[in-house]
Amino acid sequence: MHPVKLSPSILAADFANLGAQVTAALEAGAEYIHVDVMDGRFVPNISIGPLIVRVVKPLAAQYGALVDVHLMIVEPERYVGAFADAGADILTVHVEASPHLHRTVQAIRELGVRPGVTLNPATPLSALEEILPAVDLVLIMSVNPGYGGQSYIPFSTEKIRRLRAMLDSIGSTADLEVDGGVKPGNAAEIAAAGADVLVAGSAIFGGPDSVAENIAAFRAALA
Ligand code: DX5
Ligand code: ZN
Repeated sequence: MHPVKLSPSILAADFANLGAQVTAALEAGAEYIHVDVMDGRFVPNISIGPLIVRVVKPLAAQYGALVDVHLMIVEPERYVGAFADAGADILTVHVEASPHLHRTVQAIRELGVRPGVTLNPATPLSALEEILPAVDLVLIMSVNPGYGGQSYIPFSTEKIRRLRAMLDSIGSTADLEVDGGVKPGNAAEIAAAGADVLVAGSAIFGGPDSVAENIAAFRAALA
């Protein structure tokens, strides 16, 4: 199987020990750190913002990892500058939240950040056709965004497969990332469908096992 990167979502981390939790994930070899930004408008929940990106950045940089910021907010174009300034390496916006998506993607690139786009589960891949050549990452949401700990929506696998074909057909080297309900138990299926990056929150920061053990379980499943 092709090499698959892990992007632990700190949404499920213990925020009283955030630095130690992020460091544990980086020690265990996480290539990206996923930061879920929720505004209580695009999604029902409110989470974290640029202040936390600023805290995560130097830790990630120390390990050569990327800060992977997922903006679940309305009017993301208003905040891309603040997140770039805080140290985001990747900024992913929802196609549903940005009517002038091409302009938003270009603004992200002009800030020196890798642009990503993402789709809610019910949004068809056809919404990506024109923007695909302009992005460095495409994120398939395999749950309805807003909360960690939800179950993987089974039709996502077929969507990943079709997106893989779309990317390959234009020769794109953009990351295909998958987010929501990703566990060691379904990681191989998701990777086989064509994913390059797996986001996992509760499966890495939740449960009784250590972050290192949880990441090792993913590596074993993907071996
Ligand atoms: C959901 C977020 C996810 C979430 C994943 O809105 O975008 O990144 O943290 O959590 P798990 O892995 O627990 O489904
Ligand atoms: Zn996310």
